[in-house]
Amino acid sequence: MDGGDVTYAFGINPAGYLESIYWGGRLQDGDPLGPIPALRDHSSVDMAASIAPQEFPGQGAGTFAEPTLKLAYPDGVRDVVLKYVSHKIAGDTITIALRDVSRPVDVTLRYEIDPETGIVGRSATIANNGKGWVRIDQAESASYTLPVGSDYRLHYLTGRWAAEWTLQQRPVTEGATVIESRRGSTGHQNNPWFAIDRTAVSTEESGPVWFGALAWSGSWRISVDKDQIGKVRIVGGYNPYDFAYRLQPGEKLETPVFYAGYSSRGMGGASRLMHRFQRDEILPGNGKPKIRPVLYNSWEATEFAVDEAGQMALAEKAARIGVERFVMDDGWFGARNSDKAGLGDWTVNRTKFPNGLKPLIDKVKSLGMEFGLWVEPEMVNPDSDLYRAHPDWVINFPTRPRSEGRNQLVLNLARKDVRDHLLKVLDDLVSANDIRFLKWDHNRNWSEPGWPEVAPEDQQKLYVEYVRNLYWILAELRRRHPGLEIESCSGGGGRVDLGIMALTDQVWPSDNTDPFDRLTMQDGFSHAYAPAVMMAWVTDSPNWVNKRETSLEYRFLSAMQGGLGVGANLNHWQDEDYATATRMIAAYKTVRATVQQGDLYRLVSPQQGSEHSATLSVAPDRRQAVLFAFLHSSTKLEPAPAIQLQGLDADRRYRVSRLGGGTLPAGMPVEASGRFWMEQGVDPALRGDFQAIGLLFEAVG
Ligand code: GLA
Repeated sequence: MDGGDVTYAFGINPAGYLESIYWGGRLQDGDPLGPIPALRDHSSVDMAASIAPQEFPGQGAGTFAEPTLKLAYPDGVRDVVLKYVSHKIAGDTITIALRDVSRPVDVTLRYEIDPETGIVGRSATIANNGKGWVRIDQAESASYTLPVGSDYRLHYLTGRWAAEWTLQQRPVTEGATVIESRRGSTGHQNNPWFAIDRTAVSTEESGPVWFGALAWSGSWRISVDKDQIGKVRIVGGYNPYDFAYRLQPGEKLETPVFYAGYSSRGMGGASRLMHRFQRDEILPGNGKPKIRPVLYNSWEATEFAVDEAGQMALAEKAARIGVERFVMDDGWFGARNSDKAGLGDWTVNRTKFPNGLKPLIDKVKSLGMEFGLWVEPEMVNPDSDLYRAHPDWVINFPTRPRSEGRNQLVLNLARKDVRDHLLKVLDDLVSANDIRFLKWDHNRNWSEPGWPEVAPEDQQKLYVEYVRNLYWILAELRRRHPGLEIESCSGGGGRVDLGIMALTDQVWPSDNTDPFDRLTMQDGFSHAYAPAVMMAWVTDSPNWVNKRETSLEYRFLSAMQGGLGVGANLNHWQDEDYATATRMIAAYKTVRATVQQGDLYRLVSPQQGSEHSATLSVAPDRRQAVLFAFLHSSTKLEPAPAIQLQGLDADRRYRVSRLGGGTLPAGMPVEASGRFWMEQGVDPALRGDFQAIGLLFEAVG
């Protein structure tokens, strides 16, 4: 398969197994990619099937590599050996039929290559065509293989609440690295993304990088291991932890898609491919995702203490500074005055809003803004009317205590009645009110993952059916309300993945709004996901997370690296703050298309305690570029290296100005060639603590 600058090749070996042949930079038609040599045992302890770099290995025939499929039959057989039957090629898609060597289990592998980016999407469908049941104990989407190498380095993202998007790296050696979620949802702890480069040759902007991400918002796993003969295998899909999925005769299970790509342009090139792929192929909008409006959110200002007068007052102030979407967060419904009650009761709290939401929404609209609302549909507080009426609607084991997280339990979306109830409640809410945006939250992970209404042998289907029904509700809601936009939030960034991104327009990366912490988090985020979805709010100083004080301009520049929002308590602002905010929001609107949908260059990394950091976003036509540069703190008159820009048109001339107005740093020329800005670079001349500058480069003529 050829796409973009990538070739991905696989074939059938003489024994009938599907084997990886090549994955890397694009080759020419007719280049010799086969035939695959006959299988040989490596030794008496490493038999042939285990050594062959299979595209979809079953657990059987003495294969000890991470299996993509593990099965158990009623007669006790636990052996899967998948061999090639046939294939079909249609445009950029290849489907391969595999079958077990002795039992009627058929696996259909689907490969699709994106012609623009060369990103391959792989998934598998496992079908039981026999007469008895088959239990699937492990079902992965794909196994990807890298050639033998001694300097591979794995990059991945870890975190916790208020500390998502921590970039990790470690050498790829013998002994697997596993990143996963066992939580029923994507999770904060690990994110389903990986990248592997080569320490000897790869840098931020050059050298090979293989990368990938799973499109799944339930429990998942990606394992990376170097096998006995030096090949690296990356296996990802459903997490086998607590997994079991029984197929009755005629039934099928489809895996999520595991996307993977290659870049010869370093981590920067890999991220830009991912960003482009997400904008063109994943996000809603058929290849043209909408620009993120500037948003105001009430959470940090009011927490649960929302009411009509208070929200109207905030809306008036938000409109003054140029906000386009006003979002009321938690606290507007049921008996919701704290996190102890109300979740599940999605009716307007009449004490806080005596006349319903309409007066507030009318006010917001009269101020020229859209109205958005916070919901957390998958959850219920035991202290709620919904739970009192339907205590059986939650995930639970009937004879066991129900563990609460943030005083809430998880509704069992796998149940059809729960699924239909949630769709109806949300549909009614959005139909009855002019709501253009939902912040869809999800604040805890699973415990006691039982589904008592189905047979014990089928209860673990919950891991699949819950997520499929979540996707179904989101898709159906969008179908019924085409103008509605949705944000994926999960106690901050606990549910960001390519699965949920296909059904949501933006994501909330973290509840941590400290503008300095955000620099490393946004850097980590950008390795995997597009600035087009990455929301960032300007909130109060000192920030609640670290009690750090920063200027309003610094906070704006940090948040302007993504989709800009404001979450400060505007009631505490002075005239001067309003002036700064108005100026910065106006400036943001002139560059946001470039920031959100342009090419991102991470010029100076904020990681590993770096004092400096800088990113550059370049418009697709290269006529506009925006530089954000930050300083943690200057010491001892230490000179800072010049920042060399990237991605400009070398022969074009660019005029520079300061984003949001103000004078240029002393000595900076007003106009120069793209080559000058990329070779000579710029000195942002930042001195002090928590300093920042935005510079706008615009093509002349
Ligand atoms: C989660 C979200 C926050 C906020 C609160 C409301 O923590 O991440 O942004 O919406 O819930 O309870």
